[in-house]
Amino acid sequence: VKISDIRLARRVARVVPPWLGGQLQRAPARLTFGLTGPFNGQQRRVEAVRSMFAAIPFGAVVETGTYRALTTRFLSRLTGAPIVTIEVNADYHDYARRRLAAFGSVYPLKGESPAVLTLLAADAAWTSVPTFFYLDAHWLDNLPLVDELLVIVSAWPEFVALIDDFRVEGDDGYGYDDYGPGKILELSLLSPPEPPEPPELTELAELRVFWPAASSRSETGARQGYVVLATPGTMADRLAELSELRAGGTLAQARH
Ligand SMILES: C[S@@+](CC[C@H](N)C(=O)[O-])C[C@H]1O[C@@H](n2cnc3c(N)ncnc32)[C@H](O)[C@@H]1O
Repeated sequence: VKISDIRLARRVARVVPPWLGGQLQRAPARLTFGLTGPFNGQQRRVEAVRSMFAAIPFGAVVETGTYRALTTRFLSRLTGAPIVTIEVNADYHDYARRRLAAFGSVYPLKGESPAVLTLLAADAAWTSVPTFFYLDAHWLDNLPLVDELLVIVSAWPEFVALIDDFRVEGDDGYGYDDYGPGKILELSLLSPPEPPEPPELTELAELRVFWPAASSRSETGARQGYVVLATPGTMADRLAELSELRAGGTLAQARH
């Protein structure tokens, strides 16, 4: 199966209604090019995430973009920490809520991700523990990623954020999302040339950047790229020890 077919299948999946998508997701991963596995069916990615959770005792997990809760369910098996998953589409939210009913400590919330993150940010129970964010709410014209990150850096002293569908520096074999000018999921979106525009982006400058160490050729499923951002100190130091990740310095250093 060609990677372009898999990417086409992902695009088609966006218009499949939740009830039908749910039936399809019961199909074994080998019959769906791996797309019915968590993290776009990417095994190397799953290994990297497992390592991050083994290295860091995350006290909370927050996912933006629930869709059909496939990765949410995987994450809830991986950790006993409470999980919030945020979805703007009412149908997907309702569907995911039912799929997650039997999963303890998982809280599906409906709304625009930056607004819901702002609510969580006001609650010390969520912000006072090292938190793993899976930022995957990019599908629509409105790209919430920068707003999500600005809320997160302003409130969480310790976090790791995995951003999906991101252009991987040094490996063009990974796919990434491109919604037009100023809306490409790549480093320039988070770390533009001086002076940063919007100026709040300076708040992201000291975050540490990590890339997948695995070559895109060894990845499975949709082979979408990702980047991991971590707060300096314990979070970044622990990630720096993992063989599944390749350290890329600070966001400011990564500026090109
Ligand atoms: C790629 S899918 C998420 C896939 C899911 N994380 C998984 O791994 O199975 C993107 C989802 O984000 C949702 N979304 C898009 N923009 C959003 C926003 N601003 N706030 C919350 N959810 C959003 C879409 O409706 C869609 O369900």
